[in-house]
Amino acid sequence: MAESSQKPHAIMFALPFQGHITPSVDLAMKLASKGCTITFVHTEFVHQMLSKSSEVDLFSEAHELGLDIRYKTIFDGFPVEFDRFLHAIEYWETMLRDFPARVDEFVGKTIESESPSAYFLITDTFYTWPAIIARKYNLVNVSFWTEPALVFSIAYHLDLLRENGHFPCKDNVEESINYIPGVSSMNTRDLMPYLKESSISTLVQKVVMKIFDDQVKKADFILQNTVQELESETISALNQEQPSYAIGPINFSVDSTKPAISQNLWPQTDTKTWLDSKPPSSVLYVSFGSLDQTSEQIIQEIAHGLLLSKLSFIWVVRKDIVSSNDTDVLPVGFAEKIRDQGLVVEWCNQNMVLSHPAIGGFLTHCGWNSILESIWCGVPMICYPLASDQPTNRKLVVDDWKIGINLCDGESVTREEVAEKIHNLMSGTVSDGLRMENKKFRTILQNALAIDGSSEKFFDQFIKDLKAKIHVKSQNISRS
Ligand code: UDX
Repeated sequence: MAESSQKPHAIMFALPFQGHITPSVDLAMKLASKGCTITFVHTEFVHQMLSKSSEVDLFSEAHELGLDIRYKTIFDGFPVEFDRFLHAIEYWETMLRDFPARVDEFVGKTIESESPSAYFLITDTFYTWPAIIARKYNLVNVSFWTEPALVFSIAYHLDLLRENGHFPCKDNVEESINYIPGVSSMNTRDLMPYLKESSISTLVQKVVMKIFDDQVKKADFILQNTVQELESETISALNQEQPSYAIGPINFSVDSTKPAISQNLWPQTDTKTWLDSKPPSSVLYVSFGSLDQTSEQIIQEIAHGLLLSKLSFIWVVRKDIVSSNDTDVLPVGFAEKIRDQGLVVEWCNQNMVLSHPAIGGFLTHCGWNSILESIWCGVPMICYPLASDQPTNRKLVVDDWKIGINLCDGESVTREEVAEKIHNLMSGTVSDGLRMENKKFRTILQNALAIDGSSEKFFDQFIKDLKAKIHVKSQNISRS
């Protein structure tokens, strides 16, 4: 098929969440390294969190490598001081209503102001407006999914779930689902919580319906931050419906000498000196990601469980882990009790921690980035999913791939259970088995990113297909 001779120029919008910013920045770098021009857009608020100065070009180091990434910001409708995490509902209701018009204006001006280019649109799948914008400006529309293909596939088939009485799904009913193409039989308990009855009318459920009933099906291409060999049947089945490319793990896809592009919404505490003093595989890393919250009671049980275990740990306790109004959630005197045993931080360099030889296990909420990072570093996991895609991701890690164990059945957990599971993960035969499996999965990820690896091949195929599609679109314009 003929390809556009012009250099493809992506107009790319990242979703303003940590778990989406990192993969989007890495995708921009990867696309640029494959010869695309990128106009990369953060909200002004995200820019302010990533860099205190409005003048800073976050991609300046990329330019030094010859990558053509033009960094821009867009107003999201709220002053920078507005607490978007505390007032998440108000923020996102307004974003849903008003942001598409801002994007429309931005895209229009970009196309007008720059020399003619082979533009295409690339957005996080969780945005609800790309199809309208792509249609208005006749752009190829690429959707970037930052979670497992399994989660995508379940949500993609909302119609089948509805037909079978599983959307919305009753909260405490356990039934098997064996009708989603490319998904082997699974239990309704492993569905994403936003598909359940208790989420009816929530903003997240409305967004998911808008995306998967409508938007995604109009995308020209879907990029999945996963690996073909990890989810081959699911991706092959999706490919029967729409062109889908497994190009992950994108976070490790760009050369390790890649320039440091600011991606962290919060300042990182140094953990290296502390870790350097610990024996190999002796430290448990505990983190529940950047966004989701849990109860004070759970935090207390985990804290006491860590103490009971007597094992070394680093624990990321975000100020808002329970709520934005209750920032003092650890047991009284915890800091004194843990002394040499543990280190509590509000945010750290997770990849640096996971790749440190002292780390022997990861107690995680099962965010997809955390899972990919843990596999990449060969660290076995204890899973305690909180929300969103995490219960479904847990199934992959524990039930399917056997590279992690559950912290507990259900949500409630005791300190004794925490201590026992940590011991199981860090030492003994369970631990040995998990480490063996982990090595296999680590190799799968590494191979996928090797020169002839599947993710590299799919990326190149995507660029080829993209150019062909851009060419077809431009031909249609010149004919009309
Ligand atoms: C969200 C969803 O909750 C998650 O389920 C989905 O798969 C992606 O979007 P989040 O909850 O933040 O993300 O979890 P995760 O996907 O694990 O991403 C967290 C990111 O923050 C990781 O890349 C991790 O390296 C980073 N992180 C976390 C830090 O850099 N420092 C920390 O202290 C904690």
